[in-house]
Amino acid sequence: MAVKILGIAGSPRHGNTDVMVKTALEAAESTGDVEVDFFSTADFEISGCTSCYNCTKTNMDQLCLGRGVRKDDANQLFKRMIDADGWLVGVPVYFGSIPAQFKALVDRSMAVEMAGYGFRNKVAGALTVAFDRNGGLERTITDLQSWFLIHDMIPVSVGPERPDHGIGCYWGATCLQGWPYPVHSSEMEKSLEGVKEDVIGMQQTKYLGMRVAEMTKVIKAGYEKADTVWPYKGI
Ligand SMILES: Cc1cc2nc3c(=O)[nH]c(=O)nc-3n(C[C@H](O)[C@H](O)[C@H](O)COP(=O)(O)O)c2cc1C
Repeated sequence: MAVKILGIAGSPRHGNTDVMVKTALEAAESTGDVEVDFFSTADFEISGCTSCYNCTKTNMDQLCLGRGVRKDDANQLFKRMIDADGWLVGVPVYFGSIPAQFKALVDRSMAVEMAGYGFRNKVAGALTVAFDRNGGLERTITDLQSWFLIHDMIPVSVGPERPDHGIGCYWGATCLQGWPYPVHSSEMEKSLEGVKEDVIGMQQTKYLGMRVAEMTKVIKAGYEKADTVWPYKGI
């Protein structure tokens, strides 16, 4: 059974996050029967939620209505997100959390919930990159996973010592912008793909891609058999 996995790079520029998400997608694809899609929020306009609550009157065709019809790109991205069976989502750490542009997409996704729980039961893996080793990598991953959980999605990762000693990424894949020391952002060109030097982080990234592929296949296969799955029956 083929599954579709979407890579979402949530940096406002094309750099390390793109490298991580594309690497994870390639690893997912290498498992077979995986079709991939990718977008970076750097290429789209996404404004913040204005709390208009017009999403209480929306549906899957319309999604975020905003105050009047939204002219930005959030709804076309939501359609690609709904269309995928699994996601690999990466963000850079900004002040210990998610960048503002990406958080706008997170907040606006309330329209997908209101329209009919369009993200429910999708599998998702989280990836982050930061300058500092203790700059907020894992706590940013849990911000992404909170978003997944609120949508009834299924966050997955790779536990300790699996498959190699010291490579487990308990919550999700994390990279530094260089290894063993981060490449300083003043060296712009080199710093944009500093993650490639982080061999452990890149290995975690590949394993996470494969893990998301594995669980997406499992969930999709179960989904087609189960008769208690929303919106058909059950809760
Ligand atoms: C506004 C801003 C805030 C940042 N905050 C943090 C931070 O809290 N911790 C950290 O380690 N790095 C921080 N960084 C560094 C980025 O996480 C790092 O450069 C990352 O590699 C950028 O990813 P990208 O190349 O995909 O954009 C920050 C960068 C910017 C521009």
